[in-house]
Amino acid sequence: MVPKVLLLAAPLVLLAHARPAALELQKRILLDPICTRIDNATSSATSVHYPGDLRYDNDISHWASSSTQLAKCSVRPGTATDVGIILGIVGSTGTPFAVKGGGHASNPGFSSTPGVLIAMSRFSEVTYDAASQTAVVGAGLIWDDVYAALAPHNVNVVGGRVTGVGVAGFTLGGGYSWLTNQRGLTIDTVTAFELVKPSGEVVNVTQNSDPELFFGLKGGMNNFGVVTRFTLQTFPQGQVWGGLITYTFPHLPDVAAATANFAASVTDLKASIITTYNFLLGQPGVSQLLFYDGPSPPSGIFDDFLAIPHLTMDVSARDFLSLVKSSPANSTYGQRGIFNSVSLTQYTPTILDAILNETVFWGSHLSFDTGVFISYDVEPFLPSLFSHGAASSSAYPPARGTGLLPLNIYYAWSLELSDDKFHEAARQSAARIKDLAIAEGQDIVDAAVYPNYAIYDTPLVGLYGGNVPALQALKARVDPQNVMNLAGGFRL
Ligand SMILES: Cc1cc2nc3c(=O)[nH]c(=O)nc-3n(C[C@H](O)[C@H](O)[C@H](O)COP(=O)(O)OP(=O)(O)OC[C@H]3O[C@@H](n4cnc5c(N)ncnc54)[C@H](O)[C@@H]3O)c2cc1C
Ligand SMILES: *[C@@H]1O[C@H](CO)[C@@H](O)[C@H](O)[C@H]1NC(C)=O
Ligand SMILES: *[C@@H]1O[C@H](CO)[C@@H](O)[C@H](O)[C@H]1NC(C)=O
Ligand SMILES: *[C@@H]1O[C@H](CO)[C@@H](O)[C@H](O)[C@H]1NC(C)=O
Ligand SMILES: *[C@@H]1O[C@H](CO)[C@@H](O)[C@H](O)[C@H]1NC(C)=O
Repeated sequence: MVPKVLLLAAPLVLLAHARPAALELQKRILLDPICTRIDNATSSATSVHYPGDLRYDNDISHWASSSTQLAKCSVRPGTATDVGIILGIVGSTGTPFAVKGGGHASNPGFSSTPGVLIAMSRFSEVTYDAASQTAVVGAGLIWDDVYAALAPHNVNVVGGRVTGVGVAGFTLGGGYSWLTNQRGLTIDTVTAFELVKPSGEVVNVTQNSDPELFFGLKGGMNNFGVVTRFTLQTFPQGQVWGGLITYTFPHLPDVAAATANFAASVTDLKASIITTYNFLLGQPGVSQLLFYDGPSPPSGIFDDFLAIPHLTMDVSARDFLSLVKSSPANSTYGQRGIFNSVSLTQYTPTILDAILNETVFWGSHLSFDTGVFISYDVEPFLPSLFSHGAASSSAYPPARGTGLLPLNIYYAWSLELSDDKFHEAARQSAARIKDLAIAEGQDIVDAAVYPNYAIYDTPLVGLYGGNVPALQALKARVDPQNVMNLAGGFRL
């Protein structure tokens, strides 16, 4: 089927030489009536863009191209009030829409739409308040921008670990950071959400103003409205140490041993790693990220990793943003992609063996698609990582007694017709690793999967466990007209 937007765009191109007044008239007839209505009803701080405009291309594009759809138009709201007006129009007309922050959604349709795409990029403030040790951060930013703005104040927030990730989706799903062992998930550091409710009302949601909604926004993603600003706690931040090391196949047993040893024995809250098994061009390898929150780590913590012969090494004392930019995370930008995840309680040698086997197995089996890239991010946080928030303080994780260590499965490929095969492989691989972990005694049968890594058809109970009824009741209260159901995502 030819997307409607293409049919609309073509006559506009032909009319490019028409007189401006005629063009205006023609536009009003041709352009989607919902989009023109939004344009007319919102203030001059807000603009609407159509296919053929570079701003439209920029607004609809995503890190994973499979997360992009052709919208009727994109809207860049400039005020929270205008966001409310837009929600009013799409809600009353039943128009599908999407809300896009940093565009890093791994699931198709979560921040894209054939309807109206709301691009949050104009919410770009970073305002640091030294007195309260908080920063107000706009929902249109990526973490790189936030780190850069806070660095001159020698403070930081608990945000993304690699370059390019959006503040909004990351925070609304939970937020695993380099600083998580020390400070918790990003949601544990939010003191207020400025929220445009589905009714259009703009409110600051805090623990005092609306405890249930404050709880729901911490992991409940885009179910309760559109967030325009986050108020985040800040923490002193100096130089850090770390960066990227890559290892080739012959050294993977040593890397696995170093990773298992780190996971089992390092208790320094300032130390963190991501060991990424990948399969590229017919060979497994590892991209290893090391992090220490200080200019030089105590000896013993990373020595094993540094001693293994490497292919490349970019490890040094540096500022926080430089470390974030050292990762190769943006190298698959524009490929199709999917995430899936398993929540583990331990990264044992047996699990790491299984992960290597899965890497090779799926790397070989999926090689019919020439753009194939297979990766497994091993994220060994400390078991105490959930202790920074009170029990029942957030939608995710539904229980905080046991620390869950996310494994992020990420596959990238080229062809749309390969989508189903890759999605199915990501399901099977997660199921196999989960089964093996259960077989070795890990108590994870009902362990919640991180919403920002979970594949799109994960049942709600798999994300929110026993919180599902409370979240559904909250959704019914905050969004009685089901306006947010016109957007994609895990729907309560
Ligand atoms: C390369 C890469 C690295 C990553 N690293 C990490 C990591 O270190 N730790 C971690 O925890 N996660 C990580 N993630 C996962 C990340 O948290 C999610 O992809 C997250 O959804 C990205 O947020 P975004 O704003 O960029 O995405 P978007 O695609 O813009 O949005 C994602 C979801 O949030 C909703 N949303 C966006 N803005 C708003 C808003 N203002 N109000 C309401 N809903 C909104 C969207 O509708 C969509 O459902 C990573 C992802 C990638 C691709
Ligand atoms: C534009 O908005 C004004 C008031 O906001 C309304 O009176 C008018 O009918 C609208 N015009 C169109 C074409 O929608
Ligand atoms: C990621 O790569 C894309 C495509 O090359 C580029 O447009 C984008 O700016 C990059 N993002 C970051 C954060 O460097
Ligand atoms: C919400 O709080 C922030 C930070 O204090 C403030 O800038 C903003 O104006 C408030 N918004 C509303 C709607 O009260
Ligand atoms: C490797 O993984 C595949 C796919 O999950 C599985 O069928 C196979 O038995 C595994 N091999 C070993 C040695 O575990």
